[in-house]
Amino acid sequence: MGNWKMHGCLADNTGLLQAVAKGAGELPAEVRVGVCVPSPYLAQAQSLLDGSRVVWGAQDVSAFTHGAYTGEVAAQMAADFGATFAIVGHSERRAYHRESAELVAVKTQRALEAGLTPIVCVGETLEEREAGSTQEVVGAQLDEVLARLSAEEAARIVVAYEPVWAIGTGRSASSQQAQAVHAFLRSRLTAKGAGVADVPLLYGGSVKPDNAEELFRQQDIDGGLIGGASLKDQDFLAICKAAAATAVAS
Ligand code: PGA
Repeated sequence: MGNWKMHGCLADNTGLLQAVAKGAGELPAEVRVGVCVPSPYLAQAQSLLDGSRVVWGAQDVSAFTHGAYTGEVAAQMAADFGATFAIVGHSERRAYHRESAELVAVKTQRALEAGLTPIVCVGETLEEREAGSTQEVVGAQLDEVLARLSAEEAARIVVAYEPVWAIGTGRSASSQQAQAVHAFLRSRLTAKGAGVADVPLLYGGSVKPDNAEELFRQQDIDGGLIGGASLKDQDFLAICKAAAATAVAS
């Protein structure tokens, strides 16, 4: 899943979306490809991706369904433009917009109610990792969300592990570091119910064409949430091909 963040313009998006749609059409059926675009471009994504193998989504949704919340975008509004996914709780929103774990949990509920698949992001800072509290931090972030969902609802989410120190830094977690956290998250999900055990777990943080395959080969890494590299069609498609290679191999 690409996460464009606050990048793009109508003119440049056209070529990128068309190239991704074309490249995705050549991938094996078991590989799922999507892009989470800035909300104003959801209509453009819909018009260029409809009928392709590529799904599209929003990068955030409001915790409210409608009302006097100037600047907010409701999950249903994204769904109106064919979005099927929404990122919630990205660390940039937690850090720069002071989103609490509780708010992220409410946003997850709003996304599910609108029929979107929420991609719930969790991750620790460098200080937290160095203090040995990675599991405690990501466990608490995930638990806050799971506590508000039934097992049936929880089975419909996607979880993305994104260590804050690896985002946009060029310094990816090693495949062993990522796998260890993913295995921990998997055990937490499994404890919620048998159907929740298979929730897709994405790794995000400096995934590039040259490290994607090694990451995706890990048992509990089902895919990636790709920031910077999703803005370059060839890099993004190379990462999708790495997913294809590991899907076929496993
Ligand atoms: P990055 O971002 O791939 O540029 O590190 C990932 C993300 O923040 O989702």
